[in-house]
Amino acid sequence: MRCTVFGTGYLGATHAACMAELGHEVLGVDIDPGKVAKLSDGVTPFYEPGLEAVLRRNLDAGRLRFTTSYAEAADHADVHFLGVGTPQKKGEYAADLKYVHAVVDTLAPLVTRPCVVVGKSTVPVGTAAALGERARALSTVDIEVAWNPEFLREGYAVRDTLRPDRLVLGVDGSRERAPWIRELVEELYADLLAAEIPFLLTDLATAELVKVSANAFLATKISFINAVSEVCEATGADVTVLADALGYDERIGRRFLNAGAGFGGGCLPKDIRAFMARAGELGADHALAFLREVDNINMRRRTKIVDMAARACGGSLLGANVAVLGAAFKPESDDVRDSPALNVAGMIQLHGAVVTVYDPKALENSRRVFPTLSYATSVREACERADVVLVLTEWQEFTALRPQDLDSVVRTRSIIDGRNCLDKAAWRAAGWVYAGLGTP
Ligand code: UDX
Repeated sequence: MRCTVFGTGYLGATHAACMAELGHEVLGVDIDPGKVAKLSDGVTPFYEPGLEAVLRRNLDAGRLRFTTSYAEAADHADVHFLGVGTPQKKGEYAADLKYVHAVVDTLAPLVTRPCVVVGKSTVPVGTAAALGERARALSTVDIEVAWNPEFLREGYAVRDTLRPDRLVLGVDGSRERAPWIRELVEELYADLLAAEIPFLLTDLATAELVKVSANAFLATKISFINAVSEVCEATGADVTVLADALGYDERIGRRFLNAGAGFGGGCLPKDIRAFMARAGELGADHALAFLREVDNINMRRRTKIVDMAARACGGSLLGANVAVLGAAFKPESDDVRDSPALNVAGMIQLHGAVVTVYDPKALENSRRVFPTLSYATSVREACERADVVLVLTEWQEFTALRPQDLDSVVRTRSIIDGRNCLDKAAWRAAGWVYAGLGTP
């Protein structure tokens, strides 16, 4: 089959490559000619394990192309996936829908036969229905809007797209073409359905809400364990052992119970804020008031780490040499959006310390968004004469570090494990002062 994918960021580029991998003829569309040129050359503009291989294989097979031309896209297919970003509005909690609107506003007047826009982006509930009206007002032909939220994680994007836990498709059942939309989408995902991936057909609002609720739940789970870790800190209990014990209860499960620097990235923080903002608009703000606390707990972990660093440096960070290992919001990604690691590094710098950051993949992005920090190209270089070393992203390169790798590099043998990912006994045995979060 043929389809287009609008937006070639983490979501859109992955979706385009994976739809081609499923055998479809895919046209990826972006307004940024630089991104289109890179992707057409088989290069992803961001780090995502395994994606370039899928991209190249499908470019070579002639199933995948990229363009900046909306007219070409309008002509290419009857199914147009929408995968543009919905960032947080500046100074507000709400999501900014300007990219979503721009796609529909540009595409709608160009289509010449009935088609369906299948949204994948995370949007406030009610967006899909409003987009349908908007598209039809701008077009001479029938444009349908359906919602098929994307649940992929960065670092596992290809796997999550080709083998998702579930597929959700929201369709407006009152539209005459609803069965046609369902058929088209089922055909596109035929391989996944044959692999018995659960498929849930819903109304538009439910499909939109599934996505934000899933992210709100994950954020809540992380903040829950981080709140408990604050109590552990007050009592001397160990949150890592506690999380293991909780995790054996199948109703709870061990995943997403890792206490530490908290959640960041382009999704969880802005999605819980947009969810609260939308609930407020709908007169249901009380229902999600707890998410404000989820956000607060998460942000408190960052200031806690800054305080720990100050304590490690004898009470003040002024003039201290601080090494920060990790800048990406999580390992296997070069994404630094709302990254706890970079945020902590920035706060420490504001306290007057000299901060040197190292990350295996996210240095370029970090330099761009935070040019005033110092950056090193290796762990050793970052840790040179450090008064304290902070591990803030659990890259394997850092979890594999042994104390003897750094013994003679640092000025003071002091390490803060912001992700509870190091073998604390080994560091202590080697004479280091080790501090984790919620662990004595
Ligand atoms: C998330 C959702 O998992 C995904 O389903 C959705 O489509 C997009 O948002 P992603 O942002 O890629 O995916 O990252 P995720 O793996 O969920 O991690 C989010 C943040 O939580 C990271 O900063 C991570 O370090 C942190 N985290 C995760 C914890 O602090 N503790 C945990 O136990 C798990």
